[in-house]
Amino acid sequence: MHPQPERVPYHLAIIMDGNGRWAQERGKPRHEGHRAGTENLRRVLRLCSQYGVKILTIFAFSTENWGRPPSEVAFLMRILETVIDREMEDLHANGVQLRHIGRLEGLQPHLQQKVRQAVERTRNNDRLILNVAFNYGGRDEIVNAVRRIITDGIPPDEVDEELLSYYLFTAGQADPDLIIRTSGEMRVSNFLVWQAAYAEYYATPTYWPDFDENEFYRALQAYTARQRRFGLVEAADHP
Ligand code: FPP
Repeated sequence: MHPQPERVPYHLAIIMDGNGRWAQERGKPRHEGHRAGTENLRRVLRLCSQYGVKILTIFAFSTENWGRPPSEVAFLMRILETVIDREMEDLHANGVQLRHIGRLEGLQPHLQQKVRQAVERTRNNDRLILNVAFNYGGRDEIVNAVRRIITDGIPPDEVDEELLSYYLFTAGQADPDLIIRTSGEMRVSNFLVWQAAYAEYYATPTYWPDFDENEFYRALQAYTARQRRFGLVEAADHP
């Protein structure tokens, strides 16, 4: 393990990009990339625990991903199912609280049921919160929040930033401090568009399956080096 960096993000969010290209460059089918990416998620979860990250949010399936070939969509659904089936014991034993963010109702009923059970089973764990963004879109999340605010009959002058945050899938959680995107892309891609207002962004050309401990550490060092001022003068950890 590397020495503990001076500052560790309380909430880390990751866009795990580049699985397909990782596979392609090895002459393998894309799903092999997703398999390797899933392995890597296990490694990064362990690192988060070791370094003291308290919330990890991963972008596993976006609302736009439905447009991929049906076989790939089916494979990604199966990954979610397999992760729950095979990893839940271990995650639970390691104090991980699993949360889902996104439109659960868009998934097949048996998968919805599995996710609900896993969330319920781990709800009292407090070592690390793992938010799995699956069938998630940031704008969709905000539209969903506004609809529910209207349905709840909240008067317009009571709608403020705090209230809106409360209606998001991440209700009650601190906003992300650092967002990592792998594979060299420099886009937000509809990920946590509300919550990331003050987040630091870090991009690396490394494909997700190759994002190892050295890469992880480099990202934390870059984060440590940044001055976060929230539009003020002094550096601060949270607004
Ligand atoms: C992006 O690579 C990756 C995804 C769309 C899926 C990522 C999913 C996992 C790593 C497993 C997730 C784990 C759970 C809990 C479900 P890409 O296919 O866009 O790569 P490319 O840009 O090179 O084509």
